[in-house]
Amino acid sequence: MRDTLNSKFVRTIPVKTDKFPFAPATMLAPMEGITNHPVRTAISALGGLGVVCTEFVRVSVAELKSREIRSVMRPTEGVPLSVQIMGNKPDLMADTARKFSEAGADVVDINLGCPTARAVKGNVGSAMLKDPDLLYEVLCAMRKNISGLQSAKIRAGFDNADHTLLIAEAVEAAGVDFIVVHPRRRSDFYEGVADWRIIGMIKERLKIPVVGNGDVWYPTDAERMYKECGCDAVMIGRGALRNPWIFNMLQDKSDWQPSAEEVFNYVDNFMNDHLEEFEGHEMGVVKRAKENWRYLCQLFEDGNTVGREILRQQTYSDFRSALMNYLESKKPEEFDFHGHLKPKNSGSGLAAEE
Ligand SMILES: Cc1cc2nc3c(=O)[nH]c(=O)nc-3n(C[C@H](O)[C@H](O)[C@H](O)COP(=O)(O)O)c2cc1C
Repeated sequence: MRDTLNSKFVRTIPVKTDKFPFAPATMLAPMEGITNHPVRTAISALGGLGVVCTEFVRVSVAELKSREIRSVMRPTEGVPLSVQIMGNKPDLMADTARKFSEAGADVVDINLGCPTARAVKGNVGSAMLKDPDLLYEVLCAMRKNISGLQSAKIRAGFDNADHTLLIAEAVEAAGVDFIVVHPRRRSDFYEGVADWRIIGMIKERLKIPVVGNGDVWYPTDAERMYKECGCDAVMIGRGALRNPWIFNMLQDKSDWQPSAEEVFNYVDNFMNDHLEEFEGHEMGVVKRAKENWRYLCQLFEDGNTVGREILRQQTYSDFRSALMNYLESKKPEEFDFHGHLKPKNSGSGLAAEE
């Protein structure tokens, strides 16, 4: 790995220095196994969201078939779609980028952060952070085939964050329109606290828009991230599963919060809306609703104990009734939308300094 900056990465197209190209400047993070089309639709419907992202699509051996492209390209009404692909073969990635671009993806993104053993073994995702030359080559190949916007989602590094700026510069030099930064190393997986100083450092260095990501749990965290890092947009993952209204709350500056009934309706509508997709198989829908509830229940102090008991329910109607009973028992002050109950470990420059 080279360790000097500003060397051989050559930019062939001008840098776009405008602010983030979507409004509101918010993104729902890609989360494999979770942010499927039903979840993206449900969260988008609550408002305040600028872009939704698909889970990553692995591009390792063969070209994707049209059927596979179509199954990924499921738009969400009124909210632009970013399709994330993960791979390291320039030709294959370029071909896939072209297919998604032609199919109407508003953004084609590359995953440069996946920390799993499988990704690392395949030399994709976070493993590509070890090789800025390769990632530059792959991004340049993709760039030629993308008519819309191109983005890259990086971590701070693989084992250390020594080369973060070099990686970010390689991304910018390849002609990417914006970069998303999750400031943990691969070796951190999801442990510790996201070091937002790294987002600020990259923002200072690059001309393209920088999207900050990591440990935004409350609307005030997002506001702090914009302010402390100077980032152009904020991407929220787990915090949006825990509080799907977080994007809406960021737009509406009042201290409004959803009632117990609204929280119930969110899950109930989710189940109703997707019953058809499961051809009436209620347990398929309940399984998806349970995935949501695992995060939503963290809104309550007893969510991980009493709240999780709801997950034991085995039928659609039992799950629905248990959920209703639990939420009906809650007073508005028992909902931790704003961090007054048990603040979570929000990302921080200060915490990272310790
Ligand atoms: C269950 C899970 C699945 C994830 N899948 C992806 C993925 O497919 N692509 C990706 O770029 N990041 C993925 N991530 C990382 C998130 O997009 C995000 O960068 C990370 O969770 C930090 O943001 P947060 O603190 O707002 O959740 C995943 C994270 C989680 C928890």
